[in-house]
Amino acid sequence: MARELIFITGATGFVGSATAIAAVKGGYRLRICLRKHSDRLRALLSGYNEQVEFVTVSDWTDEALFRGHLDGADYVIHLAHPLPSGTDKEYYFTPAVKVTTALLKEAARVPSIKKVVITSSIAALIPLDGIPPGGVVKEDNDWDFNVDEAEDFTASNDPRGIPMRLYHASKLLANRTACEFRKAAKPQYALVTLHPVFVYGRNPTQTAAKEIEESSNGLLWYAIMAGIPHYSYSQVPGVHIDDVVEAHIKALDPAIPDGSRYLLSGKGGNWKEVANLIQREYPGLGAKITVDIEEEFLSTDSGKAEAELGMQWRSWDQMVRDVVDQQLEFMKGE
Ligand SMILES: NC(=O)c1ccc[n+]([C@@H]2O[C@H](COP(=O)([O-])OP(=O)(O)OC[C@H]3O[C@@H](n4cnc5c(N)ncnc54)[C@H](OP(=O)(O)O)[C@@H]3O)[C@@H](O)[C@H]2O)c1
Repeated sequence: MARELIFITGATGFVGSATAIAAVKGGYRLRICLRKHSDRLRALLSGYNEQVEFVTVSDWTDEALFRGHLDGADYVIHLAHPLPSGTDKEYYFTPAVKVTTALLKEAARVPSIKKVVITSSIAALIPLDGIPPGGVVKEDNDWDFNVDEAEDFTASNDPRGIPMRLYHASKLLANRTACEFRKAAKPQYALVTLHPVFVYGRNPTQTAAKEIEESSNGLLWYAIMAGIPHYSYSQVPGVHIDDVVEAHIKALDPAIPDGSRYLLSGKGGNWKEVANLIQREYPGLGAKITVDIEEEFLSTDSGKAEAELGMQWRSWDQMVRDVVDQQLEFMKGE
């Protein structure tokens, strides 16, 4: 039987590269959509050349430029999105709205596509100005998720900083764009969105210690080394990269129906546990984290992903160990 083909975006990134590697190991063929050539990604997938093809699309806002590239695909996994960096609104909002629309439109022209999985975020399940008191984040809260695109974000005094506010707004907008497209266009494919909290674990794309700052692992590393959570952190808990990857593959199952949304959030965990682990297992690290660290994580309920995707979350300890161990390997080699 011919192997099923996934058209995937964002594969040069942390979550996307790990998902691409798991997908080829799981027997899928991949058509990887890039903005520009990536030697690093080619090297990571070099053992699977017969399963992998690359396409380069220069302007992702124009569905005509995707034309033909999705033909014959069974699935689309759309991971590409900018992480918080800078204060240019269009840097965030263009991919959220125009790229999401272009890709969903082009996928609707391709009859072989059975499902589109979009990597959203916990941010799309949280109102821009925060959670109502006592609120628990889950997939079906009746909160106000509206975003005023005309807001002057640079004038915001959001304590998380302007880049994180813009990122949050862009994930809300991307989610709204996808939901509205699904309702209005009624495409032939099922649409599933995944909503991870901050993702931690080994990063296949990292090549040097300093690069940890470019991924979400940098937030965990910062808290460990500086002894305070990063100001943009905003009490978001963690989920292991392998759980996020697993959820992407499991979401392709035909049993997961159109319109499904899953919050991906590991169980338990707090900064005091991280401090205990670091002091116990990595005494020579030079970390400043102590059990006096303040700030608890917000409440999340990821039971839907457990019940329907069969998720069994890897431990908080595992996330911390995997990030610290990879970092120590780079530091020893430098
Ligand atoms: N990491 C987390 O903690 C976390 C948590 C929740 C949700 N997510 C979501 O998971 C997805 C992957 O995140 P990540 O952590 O893997 O980020 P990452 O390492 O920064 O990777 C981002 C990917 O998106 C691509 N990209 C960025 N801006 C783009 C644009 N304007 N047009 C096309 N492609 C663009 C990048 O491609 P280039 O190589 O061309 O730049 C890269 O492949 C994103 O949707 C993110 O919002 C991440």
